[in-house]
Amino acid sequence: MMSPNITLTQYLIEQRRRFPQATGSFNSVILAVALACKALSRKVAYGALAGLHGPAGAVNVQGETQHQLDVLANETFVHCLRWGGYVRGMLSEEMDDPWLSSASEDTGDYLLALDPLDGSSNIDVNLSVGSIFSVLRAPDGARPACADDFLQPGHRQVAAGYALYGPSTMFVLTVGHGTHGFTLNPELGEFLLTHPDLSVPEETHEFAINASNSRFWEPPIRRYVEECLAGKNGPRQKDFNMRWIASMVADAHRILTRGGVFMYPRDTRDPSRPGRLRLLYECNPVGMLIEQAGGRASTGEGPILQVAPLAPHQRIGFVFGSKGEVERIERYHREKPDEREPDTPLFNMRGLFRSLV
Ligand code: F6P
Repeated sequence: MMSPNITLTQYLIEQRRRFPQATGSFNSVILAVALACKALSRKVAYGALAGLHGPAGAVNVQGETQHQLDVLANETFVHCLRWGGYVRGMLSEEMDDPWLSSASEDTGDYLLALDPLDGSSNIDVNLSVGSIFSVLRAPDGARPACADDFLQPGHRQVAAGYALYGPSTMFVLTVGHGTHGFTLNPELGEFLLTHPDLSVPEETHEFAINASNSRFWEPPIRRYVEECLAGKNGPRQKDFNMRWIASMVADAHRILTRGGVFMYPRDTRDPSRPGRLRLLYECNPVGMLIEQAGGRASTGEGPILQVAPLAPHQRIGFVFGSKGEVERIERYHREKPDEREPDTPLFNMRGLFRSLV
């Protein structure tokens, strides 16, 4: 049983006691990530006063405009992680190719995949943003890492987490034994354990999706959303609430706290982009956090953590949150149109989606 309000360092030391053979390098990785997050928290909090609002003038590998804070966030992580020599490589949304340690540098036991500043389009309008990270094992032996070493399925992650730069800064972490939330005490400069053992409620009446994409959704997602919108008089027989922050970290944090379901599904907008979110440094880490908190994380059709990655910056459909809802969405993907409940008003003879299925 963990005592309340222990620091992140104390928590990591307690965890390390479970593994007498551990060298401490894993804890050093997490503490270096946390240090970068604390530095970014200050930059974000200064807002326009930091002179870092607005675009950096470049476009990242995803074809998205980089903000000045995206660039700074990436540099901060590379600086904090590179120093100790604990990671053999870093894959980042903001770098076309991963940073890989050279043979002359210390070769660490871990690889880090990260989105240094998630939801950065929210920066200039002073809404919540975050950083997301995934820790993987480096390949056996002392050979230098290569980009393909990051192509590990999410169930092989040894740790995952995010920092949320909101009204307070939080660091939410799993090392494979539950999901725990730490709040930054700005006076101490320490993350304190305030939300031990986060647990996603199984049932919910809240969903999150960017509804402006509805014309591109596939039928199972349209069906799910329409059933929610139909409320008390529809097949779900209850009213639903909708939220969309456009910063996945903030949406994930709400779901970890009070339940709900998040969908950025595969859609038909651009066949070359099966989904919007990145598998290795957005979906997998959030997926591990959610599953460690008793929720479910999925491509919409099956477990996200089982997906074998094909490319470092691969995008994929992502659905996560309360277990019952995610399982329902997976079931809708499996069901053939004629297996649907006959009294589902949206799919019956005069229903909205009859022509779509
Ligand atoms: O890059 C990811 C991201 O900013 C997520 O944090 C967020 O959920 C999503 O993109 C928002 O996308 P859109 O602008 O299409 O709603």
